[in-house]
Amino acid sequence: MRRPLVAGNWKMNGTRSSVAELTRDLVRQVLPGSVDVAVFPSLIHLDMAMHALASGSISVGAQNCAEESGQGALTGEVSGGQLAEFGCRWVLVGHSERRLVMGESDAVVSRKFATVLASGMSPVLCLGETLEQRRSGKTLEVVLGQLCRIIEDHGVAVFANAVIAYEPVWAIGTGLTATPGQAQEVHAAIRGYLANEDAAVAEIARLLYGGSVKAENAAELFAMADIDGGLIGGASLKADEFGAICRAA
Ligand code: G3H
Repeated sequence: MRRPLVAGNWKMNGTRSSVAELTRDLVRQVLPGSVDVAVFPSLIHLDMAMHALASGSISVGAQNCAEESGQGALTGEVSGGQLAEFGCRWVLVGHSERRLVMGESDAVVSRKFATVLASGMSPVLCLGETLEQRRSGKTLEVVLGQLCRIIEDHGVAVFANAVIAYEPVWAIGTGLTATPGQAQEVHAAIRGYLANEDAAVAEIARLLYGGSVKAENAAELFAMADIDGGLIGGASLKADEFGAICRAA
């Protein structure tokens, strides 16, 4: 009933020539009509990627945006309004690399989430625990705490449009994938949390799994009841593998 979404986060990767090659090969992939597919290039490659992918069904999003939506004196920032006007459909918000490396707090994540929505795009809200937090039994406390802040600030109805990506930090780029059971347990808790607020929204909210998803493990993850697709890092830089992941959704 929920339409799957497979999103490729290219992170800080790519050159003009590699992006030209990747997008050319992506256009040649046979993608299922029943799945939404999106890619998130670095800002400097957004224009190239949009032009190269314009003939197909792959939409394009940004990996980050400013907390403010308008224009003004904020050197180096790109606003939600600018990204929307450029043609972006999605923006990643609260990716663990931004939370942990750039120090983005829940408050910053919440303001960016609001900006993306106000600009007419869909936020992809990333949630996830570190290995230390998992080992100390705090996974659900951490993940639901991150979600709770967004619901407190913006209400639960936003998740009819916004997407949630559960990405255990210990599984990102490490080759360690959460087992389908581990991922499903957290996804079910997220959906249950949403359902406590609004059952109808919980039913339609899309919950992606991210963390070392590859062609070989995608199908078993996507088969879980509460996993509605994936947020793919490293494997999204290989068109054939990303295409295979999309076909598994
Ligand atoms: O945004 C994507 C995630 O961080 C997953 O990255 O597939 O390289 O582990 P990964």
